[in-house]
Amino acid sequence: MSELARQSGISEQIVAFGAEWLPGEPLSQHTSLGVGGPADIIRMHDPRRLPDITAFLHGHGVPWRILGGGSNLLVADQGLPDVLLQLARGEAMTFAGNRAEAPAATNLGAAVLECAKQNLGGMEGLAGVPGTVGGALRMNAGAYGTEIGDVVRALTVFHGATGLFETVKTENVRFEYRHTRFSTDDVVLTATLELRDCPYAVIRERIKQCNRKRLASQPIQERSAGCIFKNPPGHSAGKMIDALGLKGTRAGGAVISEQHANFIVNRDHATAADILKLMDLIRARVLKAYGLELEEEVIVWRE
Ligand code: EPU
Repeated sequence: MSELARQSGISEQIVAFGAEWLPGEPLSQHTSLGVGGPADIIRMHDPRRLPDITAFLHGHGVPWRILGGGSNLLVADQGLPDVLLQLARGEAMTFAGNRAEAPAATNLGAAVLECAKQNLGGMEGLAGVPGTVGGALRMNAGAYGTEIGDVVRALTVFHGATGLFETVKTENVRFEYRHTRFSTDDVVLTATLELRDCPYAVIRERIKQCNRKRLASQPIQERSAGCIFKNPPGHSAGKMIDALGLKGTRAGGAVISEQHANFIVNRDHATAADILKLMDLIRARVLKAYGLELEEEVIVWRE
């Protein structure tokens, strides 16, 4: 937990910023993997108060980081000393022509469907990717031939370092494979998406096809954080881990998925330590066999 939680009257001050104070939240309940110790969360209902909230935290000497939907996140068992800022789901998406404006806290799959209802396509591949629009933007999430960066035209961002808001053009974000140039104290607030005219029925069929493929190849019914490692250029992490016979390997309650070897699933009250153990094992075995160093795709908050 943070230093802040030890002080009195904090809740009232946070509420005055139009936010909720959730001290000591078990992050296992805020992540799709279902692991992680406690941290204090400030859930913000008015992103315009970000300069006040971050200045308040700075004044108390308390570091912060941004928590999205928790679907690509592995948090240490001992929890975190930082305060986690989370944008509350609130405003709806808006549409003008073939452009959509999505608040960062919008569920990504819901955003794809909202666009579809407006007969706007181009994001179908992302329909089954868990998480928020903001998280997807930060990671440049992708699936089935679409990366979110492909459809983004502009973003509004709060820069923690300066306390200023900025409208950022896509070319300055540099969307790369599961990577962007945002720094850890940049908070994406909204995204302007440019989509293509496409009948709803066609989009729905494409979404169904992607979902079928995903269901057949990924353990979507189990608790996971999606793919654990990035694919090294020209290689498939899943294929290599599979070829090494590591599917089904267990550490405590964590298992390398029998369905897709680049997924680690929390099958039976796994801890972060269990998952990190399997990650170390995979890294070592792939390095030995292929001479390749796997890079984490999942965000790991070790401390
Ligand atoms: N493969 C195996 N064994 C396995 C898993 C995969 O042999 O256990 C083989 C497949 O047969 C295929 C190749 O490896 O020939 C690639 O597998 P797949 O098509 O499942 O794609 P992937 O590269 O493993 C990527 C993304 C996924 C995304 C899918 C679909 C990465 C690290 N992963 O997976 O994204 O959903 O393509 O587009 O880029 C994620 O970001 O968390 C994620 C899951």
